[in-house]
This record gives sequence, structure tokens and C-alpha cells, in this order.
Amino acid sequence: MKNKNTNTYFIETYGCQMNIADSELVENILIKEGYIKSKNLKSADVIFINTCAIREHAEDKVFSQLGRYDLIKKDNPHVIIGVLGCMAQSLKDDLLENRPYVDIILGPDSYRNLPELLNRANHRQSNLVDTKLSRFEVYDNLFPSRKDGVNAWISIMRGCDKFCTFCIVPFTRGRERSRSIPSIIKETKSAVDEGFQEITLLGQNVNSYHYENNKFHTLLEHVSSINGVKRIRFTSPHPQDITDELLYTMANHDNICNYIHLPLQSGSNKILRRMNRSYSKKYFLELAEKIRNILPGVGISTDIIVGFPGETDEDFNKTLDVMNEVQFDSSFNFKYSIRKGTKASEYNDQIQGNIKKDRLQKVIDLQKQHTLSRNLSLVGTTQTILVEKESKMSNKEWAGRTDSNKWVIFKKQSACIKDMIPVQIFDAKGITLRGKLIQKSEAA
Ligand code: 5AD
Ligand code: SF4
Repeated sequence: MKNKNTNTYFIETYGCQMNIADSELVENILIKEGYIKSKNLKSADVIFINTCAIREHAEDKVFSQLGRYDLIKKDNPHVIIGVLGCMAQSLKDDLLENRPYVDIILGPDSYRNLPELLNRANHRQSNLVDTKLSRFEVYDNLFPSRKDGVNAWISIMRGCDKFCTFCIVPFTRGRERSRSIPSIIKETKSAVDEGFQEITLLGQNVNSYHYENNKFHTLLEHVSSINGVKRIRFTSPHPQDITDELLYTMANHDNICNYIHLPLQSGSNKILRRMNRSYSKKYFLELAEKIRNILPGVGISTDIIVGFPGETDEDFNKTLDVMNEVQFDSSFNFKYSIRKGTKASEYNDQIQGNIKKDRLQKVIDLQKQHTLSRNLSLVGTTQTILVEKESKMSNKEWAGRTDSNKWVIFKKQSACIKDMIPVQIFDAKGITLRGKLIQKSEAA
């Protein structure tokens, strides 16, 4: 039994925005239980790591961090160590066998049980594990504890039923389920009351949201009409579920940002089929064109996987073709990473590491050119910027994003954080734009 009252916590979060939102939820559960946030890792009584299993690299980072926790526990055997999130689910056996210093293992649908497990952990002999996945858990009525900043993440659905053959998410996060509209509205209103200007609606497959007979665009309309919501973003959508209604809803509401993440993954029909992506190259290109027509000036980003099993040079070149045709504003590029338990891990035509590396570099280089040319096309225009934070380069400059999700750096002058202000773009370098605040007198 531990001889000290456990009352401070520290949470480290890896992975996607869903995990950030989940950690905020867990924080609120802990705060309600009387825990206080610890200033640093070493002085905490309870340390949680919220984990990501999407690629091997993400898991490696968590493992090396767990090694540090092991040392902390050797110094202080009373500290409780908990593994949360996606690795809890997929690596529970490994964690139990090889990491005896881990006290609690909790999957993404089990956070409600945290107080009970923590109580038991104070008196326990063995590890406590709860990684059951639920068909219903959406954490309605459990609100997150948010930090400062301008953006509030609001989780609107959980899980995924798409089963892309490369992806571990359907196994770590379970079946798709959506939260009720009233509960999302309530949380949005309270985020606005707390001073957040921007709302990002989150889901593994955000646009397959459905509640009673309402689809995603109806939810967007509801959120858009809430007083004080200056900007709405959402992530991550699936190209298959981008409906015309969604695009027109975006076009018709000024506070829904003119930005879509449109994960391509591959430009080859053969690879898309093997990935179980449910669309073709033609569908994707037509969709991108439609998006640009209905939403002029829209920012489009993407995800690309190189070196998926069976990807030939010809297949890979088709990915480059789509990139050249669509000219994405930005892209997140990944080497295919084998995930145990997924269908693609069983394909016997895996691609060699050096080929993946070369292809990744080609994608990165090409995207750099596209990002620069898309950004340069904004030079001379005036963009509305939501001021988000101080620039990393200078304390005399602000950083904020355009509606289309591009970072802009500009001299602070009279602007304050959370202001929505007009900024004239005069330069584009790398992924950032530089601009100049237009003072009221100039704008008039
Ligand atoms: N290997 C590489 N990238 C992956 N992604 C998902 N699973 C894998 C994997 N096994 C990428 C996809 C997805 C993004 C969130 O992560 O591009 O859209
Ligand atoms: Fe993974 Fe595909 Fe679901 Fe996205 S849509 S979470 S890539 S299975």
C-alpha cells in the first residue's frame, strides 16, 4: 500500500488531436477527483502517457518515454504510472509482460473508470487493465479541461468503420458512434463562454457523423449559428463522405473555415483498392475540382502514404500525378508502417525501406514546391487572421492563421491575441506567410 496521498498528476500526450481532446477529458476527470496538475513530470504522483499506435515511429517515441518513467519509478516506487489511449489497446499484453512498472492500462473508451482504478491502484498488488471498447461511449456530459489558447477541440464522434487495410484505428478505437447534437451545442457554448474563439470538431471520420436523421452538415449549421463562434474547423474527413450539402454549408457560413483536409493516401487505383479506400483517382480529382469551384480560395491539405505493399514506380508516379494536378496547399507524408493485426500487414509484397525513403523524399520535395506556389499566390491579398500566439522567431511579432489554415507572421502593432484582423500578405517562405497588419485608418 502506498504511504502517501496521491494528489498531483502529469499527462503527456502523443498522436492526433483526438488524443489531445481525450487528455483534456481525462484532466477534468482527475481535477474533479481532487487531483492537482503537477508542474513537472518528476514531481507528479500519477503520470499518464496518452499513446498513439498509428505508425511504428509513434510507438517508438512512447516506448522511449516509458523507459524514463521506469527510472522515475525506481527513484520513487509510490508514483502511479498509467498508459492511456491507442497503445493501451493494441499492446496490452506486451505492456503487462515487459513493463511491470506500468500500474494502469486504460483504453480510449474506459476513461470514466479512471477514478475507480486510481483508487484501487493505491492499494493494489497487480496491474489494472481496462481496454474494453464500447459501441456507445461518446463521453456525452463529461466535459474537458481546456488550456489557454484560441482553439477548443470538441470531439463529435469516435471510432471508425472504414477499415482501410493499413490502419490500426478501427482496432484501437473501435466502432463508429456519434455524440448527440444538444450535447455538442452545450459544449460549444461553454467553450465560447470560457473565451475560445475557434472550435475544431473532431472525429476519426468526422464527416460520417450522424445523429438521429442529422448528418454532419446539419451539425455544422447548428454550431455555426451559436453566438460568439468566430471560426469552425473540422478534422479528419474521408473523401467518400464529402457531400455537396457539406460544401454548400461551408460556402454559406462565414464562420466555417475555408479549409478541407482531403486525405489522398495514393493516386493509384490499384493501391487505393488494396488500401480499401473506396474511391478512385478519378473520383478524388473530380472531388478536389468541385471543392475548389464551390469554395474559391479554399485551402486543401492531404495525407500521403508511400511504399504501401505492392506499390510499383508506376503506382507511385500516379500519386505524384495527383499531387501535380490538385496542387495541395500542404501534405502530411508517411512511409507505410506495418501495423500488426491489419490486413495490409499480411500482404507479402512489402516494399523495401530504401525505396520508401526515396519516395517519401520525392513527395516532400514536390509538396514544398506546391506549398510555395500556393502561398505565393496570396502575396498582395488581404487575409483575415485570427491572432493565436507570439511568433517563435520574435516577441515583437504575432502568429495567426488564415481562414484557409496558413500561418502568417506579422508585427504586433496594436493587435492582441484573439483579435480577428486584416493582414496584407507581402511574402511567402517555406510554409509561412509574412504580412502587415492593416490599421483601421488604412482599411477605411
Ligand atoms: N502507415 C503509414 N501511415 C499511416 N497512416 C495511417 N496508418 C498508417 C500506416 N500504417 C496515415 C494515413 C492517415 C494518417 C492519419 O496516418 O495517411 O490518413
Ligand atoms: Fe484509419 Fe481509414 Fe478509419 Fe482514417 S478512415 S481512421 S485511415 S481506417
